Amino acid sequence: MFLLTDAEVNIRKKTFTEVQTERLEQAEQTVLIKCPPKLNEKKLLQYLSSHGNINSHFFFENRGIHALIEFSEKDSVASLQDAIGIPSAAEHHVVPFKSRLFTFTLKNPVSQAAEETPVHLSPQCHIPVKELIQKLCNADDISSQMYILLNEYQLTEENIKLRFLACSLVRDFTRAYFPDSVVKPFGSSVNTFGKLGCDVDMFLDFHDIRKHTTTMKKGPFEMEYQMKRLPSERLATQKILSVIGDCLDNFGPGCTNIQKILNARCPLVKFSHQPTGFLCDLSVSNSIAIKSSELLYIYGCLDSRVRALVFSVRCWARVHGLTNSVPGTWITNFSLTMMIMFFLQKRSPPIIPTLDQLKELADKKDKHVIGGYDCSFVSDLSKIKPTKNTETLDVLLGDFFEYFGNFDFRKNSINLRKGKEVNKPESSPLYIWNPFEQDLNISKNVNQPQLEKFVAVARESAWILQKEDKTQRMINKEPWGLAALLIPFGKSNPSKMKNRMKGIGSETIRSLLDSLKLNNANSLEKAVGK
Ligand code: CTP
Ligand code: MG
Repeated sequence: MFLLTDAEVNIRKKTFTEVQTERLEQAEQTVLIKCPPKLNEKKLLQYLSSHGNINSHFFFENRGIHALIEFSEKDSVASLQDAIGIPSAAEHHVVPFKSRLFTFTLKNPVSQAAEETPVHLSPQCHIPVKELIQKLCNADDISSQMYILLNEYQLTEENIKLRFLACSLVRDFTRAYFPDSVVKPFGSSVNTFGKLGCDVDMFLDFHDIRKHTTTMKKGPFEMEYQMKRLPSERLATQKILSVIGDCLDNFGPGCTNIQKILNARCPLVKFSHQPTGFLCDLSVSNSIAIKSSELLYIYGCLDSRVRALVFSVRCWARVHGLTNSVPGTWITNFSLTMMIMFFLQKRSPPIIPTLDQLKELADKKDKHVIGGYDCSFVSDLSKIKPTKNTETLDVLLGDFFEYFGNFDFRKNSINLRKGKEVNKPESSPLYIWNPFEQDLNISKNVNQPQLEKFVAVARESAWILQKEDKTQRMINKEPWGLAALLIPFGKSNPSKMKNRMKGIGSETIRSLLDSLKLNNANSLEKAVGK
């Protein structure tokens, strides 16, 4: 059940860049068609095939039925576009932008009804946590529970196609201004840790333009474009995003709720893309963020336990309010994932290599220096030796909670480049080194109460995994193992929880205070009544 299909194995062996390039190309050959609830799938495909060979297709529900159709060649899209009508201006006055989003209607629904059947719909969101917990309770052991969660939550092949299509549709707009620009996804859509329903982080890339400039400079003379010069790169980014944001707002079919957040550290435009159903964050080329997506991609591909552990911990963190879908003082999924990678580097033997080790394996083509930072690391997965570590996932999950439940956050920071704790360079409660921009803390936003909450819930979870009797819980028909961790504490069995807190309360709080080495230990003890 958990074996990778051949197609997946093939995808995994490719480098991050190869996968990205292939998927972006496929997205350019793709159209999205809104369909009636019932239709004759065969006839629709037959009609579309008259414009070219169809590589793949699927149907999904998102405010009505949609079909994603991927052709084998880009010309087929143009041929189809030529044959498609423009809505009459009788009711609405339309903006005559020809996108790759179409609506398909039956001319004579009544007479055509006999041929119509409901189509198979590919799910684009994960099952609710309640349903997940029930599934987990039927598993054999905690490791299987973790793989079940991964299977239910991870992005599907279809959902990934839809994410790349959303980027490609935005590119149709950016290309109107910058013909060489590409819009690429980054973050959890591509780093192997994305969950169904997560936002699409996309960035506008002008990379090809720069490549072009370097080749031109090789000749005996120099020619360069006359370009508008601005006092800062940030200002250029803000201007570009502002115009593209307006463009999507005014002319983009199905682009709604456009919010320009141009004064953020990393300026961006947020919008919802209704045809695909995604919330999107569009920024301008951030090479370092892409490098961290690639690094996580490599870690996620190296060993099947990595993704299983990340999905379980992310889900656990969300249930307990340790992470949140809106930005704030809590730990982000990105920071949490980095903490898990660090933990896996610290196993004996390590499950994943440190960034410095990946850098040693890099060859010439892997060399990347961005803004003065050396971001080189190996891109070819086959060069990385598989780990000798054979620990099971249940051990890793329990030890993860114990490790961070006892981590000396007051003194130490988390450094994935070295794979070891380093003295904190400044006093942020949680310090995780940006692996590439070594003077940045990726978890600077986290405040002391949020960190304390994380530590307390991690300890409670370690305790549950160690102490609870699976057989007894199964007899009582209570959630066990991972399922027990996915119910907010205090809700599953309030009276039991209270007793447990009585029994271990003082011990837990004392060791919590020890590990945090709070100065105001007395006042906290008073506050909890000990
Ligand atoms: N990023 C970064 N430094 C940060 C925050 C984010 O470099 N302090 C980069 C990372 O590459 C990250 C990407 O921006 O993957 C997108 O950020 P975000 O959407 O917050 O994280 P995701 O990894 O996409 O996770 P989620 O599923 O929560 O969206
Ligand atoms: Mg994201």
